[in-house]
Amino acid sequence: MIAVRCPAKINLSLRILGRRSDGYHELDTVFQAVDLWDRLEVRPADDLSLVCEDAGVPTGPENLVLRAASLLREARGRQGDGARFRLDKSIPVQSGLGGGSSDAAGALLACRALWQLDVGLRALAELGARIGADVPFFLTGGTARGRGRGDVIEPMGYPGERRIVLGFPPFGIPTAEVFRLASEKLTPPDIDASLRRLSARKWPKAKHFEAANDLEAVAFERWPELEKFRDALRESGAVAAMLSGSGSTVFGLFEATGLTRASEDRLRLEFPTWSVHTTCTIDKGAHLIG
Ligand code: C5P
Repeated sequence: MIAVRCPAKINLSLRILGRRSDGYHELDTVFQAVDLWDRLEVRPADDLSLVCEDAGVPTGPENLVLRAASLLREARGRQGDGARFRLDKSIPVQSGLGGGSSDAAGALLACRALWQLDVGLRALAELGARIGADVPFFLTGGTARGRGRGDVIEPMGYPGERRIVLGFPPFGIPTAEVFRLASEKLTPPDIDASLRRLSARKWPKAKHFEAANDLEAVAFERWPELEKFRDALRESGAVAAMLSGSGSTVFGLFEATGLTRASEDRLRLEFPTWSVHTTCTIDKGAHLIG
């Protein structure tokens, strides 16, 4: 049996540079892996199958784990190989934390090990990008800039562990819908637009942290509770607070002391249907365990 851990991510910054002819959007984003993990186990089998006890996760061929395994098998001409997956979810679905993409990255690593394939990370990233724009990031994790569709990854220096508070509303948001809403408001593409200065070395130094998410405005308009939660995180002392990716998670970045017990109690009281989870940044991506 082979097991992999698949982390969640947040986007410290997400700028939309324009629409692309393939229906995607040109992005300049900063990904940060966080200490919240799905676990994927795989055993040899005659064909591909997946078990997941989370009712919100489809277990058919559309699941990104099975798509990843199937794509790798096809690319390596190993049609005879199979895999039986078991997925334990901790990352909420449709939450903007990249759980499905991370699971797909984990599946690529797990199948490479299970089938003893001689294939490098770069080739896995190319396959991953065909499954989802965020998949390549999860093969390396840590702190990284993503360009193109978010799939062209350039690792940035890891600035050290920082405390993150994740707020999960009682609903998920389909990524495509938020991009569609944002797209309606896009001014003609400005390909030269550059990322707001966000130095991986500087961002933890709090006061000068500049972060922005171009998907926030439309998401806040459509789901006003998200903005209220963002404001509450700021009032609780977050150095930065914003929507992660296309949502629905809203995160706050805190100094070492984090959220005080009193602030956390106040958040839970004010947003009784939300769940609040304190975690931290990590310098890892999806990886094999034990
Ligand atoms: O690549 P992934 O399947 O995760 O993307 C989900 C959806 O999000 C896409 O179908 C597209 O509508 C939108 N998207 C986009 N531009 C990106 C990434 C995602 O428009 N760079």
